Amino acid sequence: MTTATSPAPAAAGADTKALEQQLYMRTFARQPITLVRGAGVRVWDDEGKEYLDFLAGIAVNVLGHCPPVLVKTVQEQVATLIHTTNLYYTTPQMDLAQLLVQHSVLDRVFYANSGAEANEAAIKLARKWGKRHKNGAYEIITTWNSFHGRTLATVAATGNRHYQEPFDPMPAGFKHVAFNDLEAMREAVTDQTVAILLEPVQGESGVHAATKDYLQGVRKLCDERNVLFMLDEVQSGMGRTGTLWAYEQYGVEPYVMTLAKGLAGGLPIGACLAKEHAAVFEPGDHGSTFAGNPLVCAAGYAVLKEILDKDLAGNAERMGQRIVAGLEELQKESDSGITEIRSAGLWVGIEFGTEKATDILNRCRENGLLVNKTSNTAIRLAPPLILTEADVDQFLDIFGRAVSA
Ligand SMILES: Cc1ncc(COP(=O)(O)O)c(C=O)c1O
Repeated sequence: MTTATSPAPAAAGADTKALEQQLYMRTFARQPITLVRGAGVRVWDDEGKEYLDFLAGIAVNVLGHCPPVLVKTVQEQVATLIHTTNLYYTTPQMDLAQLLVQHSVLDRVFYANSGAEANEAAIKLARKWGKRHKNGAYEIITTWNSFHGRTLATVAATGNRHYQEPFDPMPAGFKHVAFNDLEAMREAVTDQTVAILLEPVQGESGVHAATKDYLQGVRKLCDERNVLFMLDEVQSGMGRTGTLWAYEQYGVEPYVMTLAKGLAGGLPIGACLAKEHAAVFEPGDHGSTFAGNPLVCAAGYAVLKEILDKDLAGNAERMGQRIVAGLEELQKESDSGITEIRSAGLWVGIEFGTEKATDILNRCRENGLLVNKTSNTAIRLAPPLILTEADVDQFLDIFGRAVSA
């Protein structure tokens, strides 16, 4: 509604950055570029400058930008049926559910719109399971430096006070212990514990992988104490780590797994998958207007099928190795400042001994490369899974110059 004190309407062609200052509730520390177009591993800004995108919407554009298979699927679906309501059956929902179940160890799927909502569903599922199977146990244990989302429950699950503090008091029922510390986890479990929620590889903290012993130990602990073992694969799933799901590399099976990010290659979708015995939702328990609509599910099916058909998880592993080998060469140079290279498939955290991440990120961007920092000392890479050797070599060239400058 326009009133005498309302800001003037946005003029056509007005400067996007100025409008953002004026109109938007600023929660993001944005980079000073406006992106207008993308194709494959590259994006372009409003001045026509080209960038190699090694962030891919933070592990979302797994097939790259505007991949033909996704564009075609979405165009067809958008002209056929965009949205109904979950009060009716729709085919794409079950096509995607079937593919997810066939290619995982989980039995049932519930759709959401984001990673936070997928985890919110997992939290509600665990609490209901606790009422039914564990005398009302409701407490969920997660780890410090984890990231599970920004809704009130998922921010309470997230082990980082920085994200919680402005919104205290946090909802009750979450406990945090150190990551990769099995003894701490063992000590934290009580009769009130209903679930343990873990990322197999912590992404937001800068790509820190769980050890095999740890994940296997936690799964065993869950079995001993009748606790649900839940994995947040929102960022690690969809081939990112070199296998379709990260858990495959650990020899453990989750009872509940959450997905989002790359699942529909850029369309908003999330999913909470569960083994049959943990799938306790019944009609009326949970829901969402948009979740699992025909458009996003058709997109999700196209993306997952492409990852499977083209073995993009295998490509992620190979390209990840090439990146790491190049970075290790760079690390040997005395002025690189690189102190640690952490990786899981096509997902890399590069640690520097000093607070130079912002400078490096800016130099990369100025030279046509998009990366991201997870702290003042760490750079994260999460490029599309379709990367070629030539893309990797171009990355190494620009990144090497940015680091040595
Ligand atoms: C592991 C993990 N879980 C959950 C989320 C939240 O996902 P969304 O931003 O889609 O709500 C993220 C986002 O970065 C994530 O990395």
